Amino acid sequence: MTPMPDPALKDRVAIVTGAARGIGLAAVRRLCQDGARVVAFDRPEADFSAALAAGQVAAHRGDVVEAADWHAAIALGVSLGGRIDILFNNAGIGGAIANVLDYPEDDFDRVMAVNVKGVYLGLKHVGRHMQANGSGVIVNTSSVSGFGGSGNIFGYAASKFAVNGMTKSAAVALASQGVRVLALCPSPTATEMMFQLERRISPDDPEAARPRLAQGIPMGRYGTPEEVAEVLAFLVSDRAAFMTGALVPVDGGTLAK
Ligand SMILES: NC(=O)c1ccc[n+]([C@@H]2O[C@H](COP(=O)([O-])OP(=O)(O)OC[C@H]3O[C@@H](n4cnc5c(N)ncnc54)[C@H](O)[C@@H]3O)[C@@H](O)[C@H]2O)c1
Repeated sequence: MTPMPDPALKDRVAIVTGAARGIGLAAVRRLCQDGARVVAFDRPEADFSAALAAGQVAAHRGDVVEAADWHAAIALGVSLGGRIDILFNNAGIGGAIANVLDYPEDDFDRVMAVNVKGVYLGLKHVGRHMQANGSGVIVNTSSVSGFGGSGNIFGYAASKFAVNGMTKSAAVALASQGVRVLALCPSPTATEMMFQLERRISPDDPEAARPRLAQGIPMGRYGTPEEVAEVLAFLVSDRAAFMTGALVPVDGGTLAK
């Protein structure tokens, strides 16, 4: 299905983190279809070629954990179109597969740094810029793992609970300033993050792990990055003008159980 372009997004400026692949790349492509200009923010070693081919895209090589890299991303976005209208605060990592008792401290620190501090820095610095402009929308990528206990992905689940909390607190704080803040909550989605998990669970036959991982999803399959990006395109548009603070599942029914 080809999405309908939204003319209102033409020439709006978006920062997308984790933009080189997966859900972030699908978001870059979807926003470019609407004519937005995009700062594709990802780690220096990432391959930006697909994102750069999507449209009016500028690559920003940095780390979401570094405030200086956020200031540089904002400056790059301002050079593209005068202001930042949209932040897709999406970069995230999976970390160890272990329960609380076995969870390695280093993994805990790194997952919290990228998934929580990185999202906080985006909310803080891009939120400040949007507050000064009197408008903007920030969508954080959470997960269905941010809603219930996940025995074996302790750090990841904790980080997504934190993303949900930051989303709601920021939404309340910024609602009167014209800035909307939301979270997308995907279930397993067909990206390298899930494929890596499959390889770790079942090294000899990664695809054999897929039905097991998908069986908790009522629709019985992973989502696609494009399905997540389509909901993002709605949330950042003026069609969602009265939505803020919502944690929006894109999960094939997972959270309905
Ligand atoms: N794939 C899933 O099943 C799934 C489900 C729910 C939520 N999510 C969330 O969606 C988001 C995107 O995940 P994905 O599936 O596209 O994963 P992915 O691993 O395919 O892509 C993540 C991207 O983030 C980038 N990144 C990682 N750390 C970074 C950092 N410190 N600074 C800048 N960029 C960094 C990576 O280089 C990569 O390009 C994550 O927040 C993830 O937790 C994914």
